[in-house]
Amino acid sequence: MDHFEISGGNRLKGAVDISGAKNAALPILAASLLCEEEVVLRNVPRLRDIQAMLTLLQRLGVAYSWEDDGSLKLRVEDEMNCHAEYELVSKMRASVCVLGPLLAKRKRAQVAMPGGCAIGSRPVDLHVMAMEALGADSDLVNGDMMLRGKKLRGTEMFLGGAFGSSVTATANALMAATLAEGRTVIESAACEPEIADLCDFLNACGAQIGGHGTPRILIDGVASLKGCDHSVITDRIEAGTFMVAAAITNGELTLNGARLEHLIAVVDRLRRIGVNVERGEKGVVISSSRRLDPVDITTQPYPGFPTDLQAQVMALLCLGDGNSVITDKIFPDRFMHVAELNRMGASIRREGATVIVHGVKRLIGAPVMASDLRASAALILAGLIAKGTTKMSRAYHIDRGYERIEEKLAGVGADIRRVAE
Ligand code: EPZ
Repeated sequence: MDHFEISGGNRLKGAVDISGAKNAALPILAASLLCEEEVVLRNVPRLRDIQAMLTLLQRLGVAYSWEDDGSLKLRVEDEMNCHAEYELVSKMRASVCVLGPLLAKRKRAQVAMPGGCAIGSRPVDLHVMAMEALGADSDLVNGDMMLRGKKLRGTEMFLGGAFGSSVTATANALMAATLAEGRTVIESAACEPEIADLCDFLNACGAQIGGHGTPRILIDGVASLKGCDHSVITDRIEAGTFMVAAAITNGELTLNGARLEHLIAVVDRLRRIGVNVERGEKGVVISSSRRLDPVDITTQPYPGFPTDLQAQVMALLCLGDGNSVITDKIFPDRFMHVAELNRMGASIRREGATVIVHGVKRLIGAPVMASDLRASAALILAGLIAKGTTKMSRAYHIDRGYERIEEKLAGVGADIRRVAE
């Protein structure tokens, strides 16, 4: 397993190209199962999670190839296998996104229940409820969700759960509805830009979807979907991560391709902390040159503050003046990074779904362990400013969701290197 070694203290300066959005590309890849013709995808990031989805799709009869221009071509060649096995789903929860397309196109789906992970339990009750609402029969057999549905029928469904809307349950519901008979209305749908991008992809293939980006999505079923040539939106979570990298090192970064309109809640909090955020010609310019003010942050479904940036902003607030309060209402247990940040000299106290971050003067480099994708990003960010060297083990976590992060950071002045073990 590789680890990262980071020597803190360098101020980051320069420009970073933001990659395509992992959480848009993953459901869009699953949606290729619905298509009768070839699909060409551009701006797909080269990530472990993307490769995991491609491996799953290959087992489900999809042929794919990476082209010289960086685009990804996919075509369904065989529709016999409908089983997404536990060994794949347990490694990457987003595999659950094949549920809706398999059921709609092949009339049956067998998808392993994802189980839990480092950020908490990952229920799928809303996914199953949506499929049943469309007329599918469901059963749980040996840990696999078994769904069958000769002909799905459009319906009205309420997709809000105990924690609000669900991103991948919305993806599954709308993908299945594209080939259902009649109109489907999804109330309390996820409004994330990645869902809007999925709908833009499906409409380009001939689907009839409206209202995406709002809590009410309308889908009029069609007989079949063609293919299309689609470019994936840039990754707002990667952009937010590099915003924190600029702020925590008191540097100045231009984030090429970042879309401010996808980060309104994040920009609001960063500006209250004292970070300068400006719109540049090619992207967003972030700079910071003074001590940081404390803030209160509560994560919510989009357009609220994203849970996927909770750990990264926590690393920044470790150096703020006074006490900050962070509550994660989406994943109340998503705090594996707290103990590791405290090992670096932070002063963070957890009270259930809330942490109090008492600002300290400095962080000290230390050996730390990554636990999940965004927690590992937070530890790298802390290492950029910590005195001395930080060694972060289990680098594979970061490779799941960030494309060549050490090259991008080193390219703007960070002293970071990947060490193969
Ligand atoms: C998506 O996960 C993202 N993953 C996650 O990003 C992100 O943290 C999450 O949305 C929230 O924004 C992808 O898009 C591939 P949810 P998802 O269903 O869809 C509860 C990353 O780091 N819930 O929106 O699995 C659930 O427990 C990853 O890139 C139910 O109760 O999340 C949570 O509390 C991590 N029943 C809340 O809803 C369900 O059937 C939101 O979860 C489904 C979810």
